[in-house]
Amino acid sequence: MHHFEYKKGVLHAEDVSIPEIAAEVGTPFYCYSSATLRRHYQVFANAFKKSQTLVCFSVKSNSNLSVIRTLAREGAGADIVSAGELHRALKAGIPPEKIVFSGVGKTRDELAFALKTGILQFNVESRSELEALNQVALEQNRKAPISFRVNPDVDASTHEKISTGKKENKFGILWEEARAAYDRAAALPGIEIVGIDVHIGSQITNLDPFSRAFQKVIDLVKDLRAQGHAITNVDLGGGLGINYKAGNEPPPHPEEYARMIETLMDGLQVRLLFEPGRMIVGNAGILVSRVIYRKSGADKTFVIADAAMNDLVRPTLYDAHHDIIAVKDPGASQAIERVDVVGPVCESGDAFAKDRDLPPLEEGDLMAILSAGAYGAVQSNTYNSRLLVPEVLVDGREFAVIRQRPSYEDLLALDKVAPWLK
Ligand code: LLP
Repeated sequence: MHHFEYKKGVLHAEDVSIPEIAAEVGTPFYCYSSATLRRHYQVFANAFKKSQTLVCFSVKSNSNLSVIRTLAREGAGADIVSAGELHRALKAGIPPEKIVFSGVGKTRDELAFALKTGILQFNVESRSELEALNQVALEQNRKAPISFRVNPDVDASTHEKISTGKKENKFGILWEEARAAYDRAAALPGIEIVGIDVHIGSQITNLDPFSRAFQKVIDLVKDLRAQGHAITNVDLGGGLGINYKAGNEPPPHPEEYARMIETLMDGLQVRLLFEPGRMIVGNAGILVSRVIYRKSGADKTFVIADAAMNDLVRPTLYDAHHDIIAVKDPGASQAIERVDVVGPVCESGDAFAKDRDLPPLEEGDLMAILSAGAYGAVQSNTYNSRLLVPEVLVDGREFAVIRQRPSYEDLLALDKVAPWLK
């Protein structure tokens, strides 16, 4: 469910027409819908009826300050993986006591900064990190609240690059070592155990892997409590998938996900934490691009867009499918042509769609690449010295540029000419 719809023959984000934004901002640009963000957050947060919960938006999926702030105003916390994301979360108005810090490679500086800030918990992923955090905490005369991220060795049945819960993945503490890790943590003066954490992957479209992993976690919570450890927070990570293709069977609804969890967790007496990213922001964003040229290949038609793999890398990196629609409503017209939609970057992998049946897209036409709100702008870069793609947020009839397109001076200013070359 999202708020990108045709009105009077033209694609709108809520009440703002996409060509109106394109005229002011230029293309390509990301466009997000506030109403969709709020709705997704509320649907997820309200799905949990019986449990005490905290929904920590996974900032890595979309770290724009205005996006985070929109969610902060709904009550969201944040799941962060770097000092940079912590700066963003705080600036966006997320209270530190709603922030969880994940990631396998938190540096001592990052640990120290987060500890000083007073975040809710560190999701510790190794014994080495535990020892480092203990030292950092002692230097600050504090106790660091921790959960261990445990690796349940469950196959999430998702793309290999975004699967994290198998024992061969770099994430989490090996299942067999979890109990010993908790015992060690309990012996460290700078550490306070507060919970347990699991995250098995992203874009998971079936509840089975979740329920297998969560059942294992519940059993471990009981064991750990029996060993005398205080497990209050159970962080179940993110990972709930979204629909990228119209007409596909929808992934499990947050209600179904919540019922599964509340049934499993019945009587466990814990505070549930979640780290959803994609589910909240994925379908709340589109990438708008203009057709620069059309070109006929040996047996193909190429539609060359002004957006490229540096703006949205998901199709190139994960073979991800994103629906593409024309901004001008094709209406009842049945005209369809089979095309490759490609970008200007000098790599054959720079394609948004291959052999896709689309309504005719002519030179100068606008198109929208859908479901681009998560892992879109955050993974953009300046490859081919292309300017970083701007972001626009719509709220009802209003829109605002929430990350501006840099100038070429901005781009070049990051480089310095070595003194001997001057
Ligand atoms: N928590 C942790 C510890 C994570 O590593 C992730 C995502 C999340 C939460 C949020 O997961 P979500 O609810 O968004 O599935 N760039 C890839 C996705 C990478 C996911 C990384 N971790 C893509 O474009 O598909």
